[in-house]
Amino acid sequence: MSSLPSVSRVAQAFSQAAEHYDQVAGLQRQVADHLLKHCHTQLNGVVMDLGCGTGYVAKHLAQLTPVTSVLGIDIAPGMIDWCRQHIAYPHCQWMVADAQALPVADNSIDNVVSSLAIQWCANERALFDNTSRVLKPGGHFFATTLGPQTLHELRWAWQQVDTYQHVNEFVPQADILAALQVCFAEVQVEVHTITLWFDKVSEILRELKQLGASNHNMGARHGLTTRGHLRQMTAAYETLRNTEGKLPVSYQVFTISARNKAN
Ligand SMILES: C[S@@+](CC[C@H](N)C(=O)[O-])C[C@H]1O[C@@H](n2cnc3c(N)ncnc32)[C@H](O)[C@@H]1O
Repeated sequence: MSSLPSVSRVAQAFSQAAEHYDQVAGLQRQVADHLLKHCHTQLNGVVMDLGCGTGYVAKHLAQLTPVTSVLGIDIAPGMIDWCRQHIAYPHCQWMVADAQALPVADNSIDNVVSSLAIQWCANERALFDNTSRVLKPGGHFFATTLGPQTLHELRWAWQQVDTYQHVNEFVPQADILAALQVCFAEVQVEVHTITLWFDKVSEILRELKQLGASNHNMGARHGLTTRGHLRQMTAAYETLRNTEGKLPVSYQVFTISARNKAN
């Protein structure tokens, strides 16, 4: 069974995060820029931004000349409301929907782009089946997601305190590759790591919360993390300061390129 939170908990957490999301989304911007640079020359026609959040990727897609329309999809109503209120491109449309059960017609989308959203989907099979179904034969799927080395410092610091799951778990590269190859051809998964540096452990935790990325796992210790536990975890994390006195937070980023099999 997946340890990921339910779709409704993910939707609630990101809806609550929508207002402050852009102020703390530095990592997300870096990753989205990397994805757009990687794929922008290959995009045209109708493009879906899956897990669009506050619409950063969708806005960039809408400015590409060969792209005729953009469909931004997100499970969090708060994110879609934000996009409707703040992004006024006439050829951008917005929809609240689950990537694992898309209410979108078969063979209707030329390309699907998705930045840092699919790691929230527990049912990979449904996610990739749906993406493939809505894509036209030969259409591209470009995405970024997170690998198991993500937040390894925070995971290690909590392991010094107890055995509960405090940090989201992420799917290994080989498993993603195998799941993608069921529906897609020419599948590639590239890996790189981004390390951000912070002054305080409390800043790291606050930023994850504001991003809607706090731990909501099934193995989480519901409401029972005491100040004492937090102090112990902080003391462990403090031992990771570098020579400049900064605390590392690592993100292992997978960049996916795939082409829809002819169906
Ligand atoms: C880290 S944010 C990334 C947002 C945006 N792509 C960006 O780069 O800024 C992840 C987004 O994925 C959305 N999401 C998570 N699970 C989803 C699902 N099952 N279906 C659709 N969207 C989902 C969340 O609501 C959130 O807005």
